[in-house]
Amino acid sequence: MPFDRADRLKKLPPYLFAEIDTKKRAAIAEGRDVINLGIGDPDRPTPDFIIEALERGARDASTHQYSSTEGKLSFRRAVAGWYERRFGVTLDPMNEVISMVGSKEGIGHFPLAVLNPSDIALVPEPCYPPYRSGTIFAGAVPHYVDLTAENNFLPDFDAIDPRAAGAAKLMFINYPNNPTAAVATPEFYERVVHFAKKYDLIVCSDAAYSEMYFEVPPTSFLAAPGARDIGIEMHSLSKTYNMTGWRVAMAVGNADLVAALCSIKSNLDSGVFGAVQEAAIAGLNDESDFVDRQRAMYQARRDTLCDGLSALGFNAAKPKATFYVWIPVPEGMTSTSTCEMLLDECDIVVTPGNGFGAPGEGFFRVALTVEESRIRDAVQRMKKVFGG
Ligand SMILES: Cc1ncc(COP(=O)(O)O)c(C=O)c1O
Repeated sequence: MPFDRADRLKKLPPYLFAEIDTKKRAAIAEGRDVINLGIGDPDRPTPDFIIEALERGARDASTHQYSSTEGKLSFRRAVAGWYERRFGVTLDPMNEVISMVGSKEGIGHFPLAVLNPSDIALVPEPCYPPYRSGTIFAGAVPHYVDLTAENNFLPDFDAIDPRAAGAAKLMFINYPNNPTAAVATPEFYERVVHFAKKYDLIVCSDAAYSEMYFEVPPTSFLAAPGARDIGIEMHSLSKTYNMTGWRVAMAVGNADLVAALCSIKSNLDSGVFGAVQEAAIAGLNDESDFVDRQRAMYQARRDTLCDGLSALGFNAAKPKATFYVWIPVPEGMTSTSTCEMLLDECDIVVTPGNGFGAPGEGFFRVALTVEESRIRDAVQRMKKVFGG
């Protein structure tokens, strides 16, 4: 029987890449050797010490029953310990930390906890799409804030319409940033707090990539004075420990905001599998050089890609963090035409910048989630097309 989808689904922006997706599937089906630089998903496995903690947790029958939505106290304590060591941010594990089924889940649900229908959320663009869809699913309205190269892909607070800021209730920020790889300074976060307090905004900071850095370790939004009065931060084990499939993350910060999110979640999910929380604790308490080696690996991949593409005339500046490189398209081309050309002529998949929002037009995103040798192959293939 045909059925009509809910309006909230119809309000999502149209999917722009059906054609590229079809071509990509066709190329793979034809047996072409496609190099996929499109996916922001670590290609290396989760480390053994985390898998071993999962095994031990799975043999403990207490993990076989429903978990609590907020997460085990031992998990919340491990998160608080990690935030203290890593960012110098002291969190109360009882009231300022909960677990999430991946940070995407928390980001998507948070607007339901704080926005009423017709409320406004300031959403940066280009952006990770759930800020937009979570806002729309709450019946609220995104007001887009352009992130531009001129402003280092940080919001330009002076350029935000004061009427929109005054009417808004929530603002999303995400540094280190997907897709632009931009980083934020402590001074930027201080400006965010100032702006949010001026306009009475709640701030939702997404710090999923804070451990994937190559220069100065990024700070947490919550380290900014006053941030905890108005802010919640979403963090995740996914990228740091190669755990995207495990679905475990944390929301931390203002106790009322954390409690509001937990209240929504308790109606929708029943927490993270206890053995996965044990695995996450092992990751958070790890003192080995695992994360350092990950950083070194991504840095080597980044350098191979950026040096190679710069030699071909691209403006491929080396990002200071994340495993993404955000590159302006060649003169006279668009995001879509560049990506189509890379697929048709080089068998390379990258992501068109406009897929992250209109201001992403004129860029494409490369994910450093294949081995360095494959990145070298990709550069060689591009040399044939762009090498003059
Ligand atoms: C900016 C950003 N935030 C959050 C996530 C979600 O990560 P997870 O749901 O695995 O914690 C992603 C995933 O790609 C991301 O790019």
